[in-house]
Amino acid sequence: MSLDLSFNKILIIDFGSQFTQLIARRIRELGVFSEIISHKQIKNNNIDSHTKGIILSGGPLNVYEIKRYSFDKKIIKKGIPILGICFGHQILSKLNGGRIKQSKHREFGLVNLFKIKESILIKKIFKKKNSIKVWMSHADQVSKLPKNFKTIASSQNSKFAIIENKSKKFYGVQFHPEVTHTENGKIIISNFIFLICKVKKNWTVKNQKVQLIKKVRNQVQKNKVLCALSGGVDSSVVAQLLSKAVGKKLYCIFVNTGFLRKNEEKQVINTFKKKLKINLIYVNAEKKFLKELKNVSNPEKKRKIIGRLFIEIFERYAKKIKDVKFLAQGTLYPDIIESKTVTGSETSKIKSHHNVGGLPKKMKLKLVEPLKFLFKDEVRKLGLELNLSKEITFRHPFPGPGLAIRIPGIITKEKIEILKEADHYFIQALKDNDLYDKIWQAYAALLPVKTVGVMGDNRTYEYICLLRAITSEDGMTADFYDFKKSFIQMISNKIVNSIRGINRVVYDITSKPPSTIELE
Ligand code: XMP
Repeated sequence: MSLDLSFNKILIIDFGSQFTQLIARRIRELGVFSEIISHKQIKNNNIDSHTKGIILSGGPLNVYEIKRYSFDKKIIKKGIPILGICFGHQILSKLNGGRIKQSKHREFGLVNLFKIKESILIKKIFKKKNSIKVWMSHADQVSKLPKNFKTIASSQNSKFAIIENKSKKFYGVQFHPEVTHTENGKIIISNFIFLICKVKKNWTVKNQKVQLIKKVRNQVQKNKVLCALSGGVDSSVVAQLLSKAVGKKLYCIFVNTGFLRKNEEKQVINTFKKKLKINLIYVNAEKKFLKELKNVSNPEKKRKIIGRLFIEIFERYAKKIKDVKFLAQGTLYPDIIESKTVTGSETSKIKSHHNVGGLPKKMKLKLVEPLKFLFKDEVRKLGLELNLSKEITFRHPFPGPGLAIRIPGIITKEKIEILKEADHYFIQALKDNDLYDKIWQAYAALLPVKTVGVMGDNRTYEYICLLRAITSEDGMTADFYDFKKSFIQMISNKIVNSIRGINRVVYDITSKPPSTIELE
């Protein structure tokens, strides 16, 4: 799988580190395109002339298991500069004749790193200081320096914490420069990519736009494309990108599942049909979705039914429009990487995201997924570059199955109506109090439990509304947002006083992990 852009890039070979994505992010933040590929997939012959540098990631492996895990060793003979990080440092050392052994003292967390010798890799890192703090996470370490390598820096327990072979442009660091805890870590990465690999900045949002439009045109040729539009950030950006790429050959399909937020269908129609003049097919399938989900309470069953109904509708409309060959959707990079483990196998499935896991194996339409190499913040920047409004590009994420996965248990029309109101009040209050943009995602859910309350002199017996608001970088980990008591009290009163059917409000304070962002 390759993005196939004519960009110079840094290739990140993934050995399963939990930080591999961070390496990619840091490089892209520095304005250079980077691509992650599993060590199992990458072969010497796949590395093209656009690859100007290679980073070997960390990982949970032991270098002596490498046979079992396979790695094409010819890659290190290609003459391309290499930076090995943690496990990557150990494997680079081993392949160059060094020795690795289990450390007597494992190093986890911040340690002092001492400069031994000048190197281009550590330019502007120590400045006038003798040592800096770096973040370590390892049990093994390099115990014998590989041939023709020099030691650049050491920690108390890792003598060979930074090493270099200047003529081959091979560098190894035992710590993690990609994590923010490492002092000047980003400068180390910057030195590697700009001073050693000599890559020029190329990953600007303008560049991405031009290249992605070109790529979509190449893929789609003269065929028609159906774009599944939900009104969320990702699909909105895809729709706008495709509209620029293929014009009237794009047909956007917007399905009202009945699980949309209050007034959402009106907003989407207004933006895409009226303002952006995009071919928009509006399908009101509220009744169908509700009927098929009747009495279904299992979360995975709900997701599968919703995924199937979406695809059935897409295929039906593709037939109606005639000659549609492609289905475009807003799959992002984390959606793809999150489902793979270091050995390339599928991780245990947590949820079937309807745009990734929910697709049937034998789908008649071919997929167009122009955002599948982008992170969410990159998608937002691209949205602005494509002239989408701030309101659309900075909207909180909203899952395809919508409110259906925010009503645990059996879904009824009554519950949906109650939830739509509660969610509306919550989101509006966030906007009114300048909190919306500080929060990555927020929503209300309706719990399938009724509890007793008292209003006026009367007993009530109604549902519990759960509020969730989280901060996150990319949705893969999250923490709850710490509201002031006055705000949470105000919104609780507002919801209970305004909505019949809710007499209790709770705030979800779990992080992800161990919870997930959505309830189902
Ligand atoms: P979880 O609940 O897995 O959610 O922590 C992570 C992010 O993904 C969104 N999400 C979905 N998005 N289709 C989507 O397009 C889905 O089926 C889906 N399920 C979860 C969720 O809202 C959060 O932003």
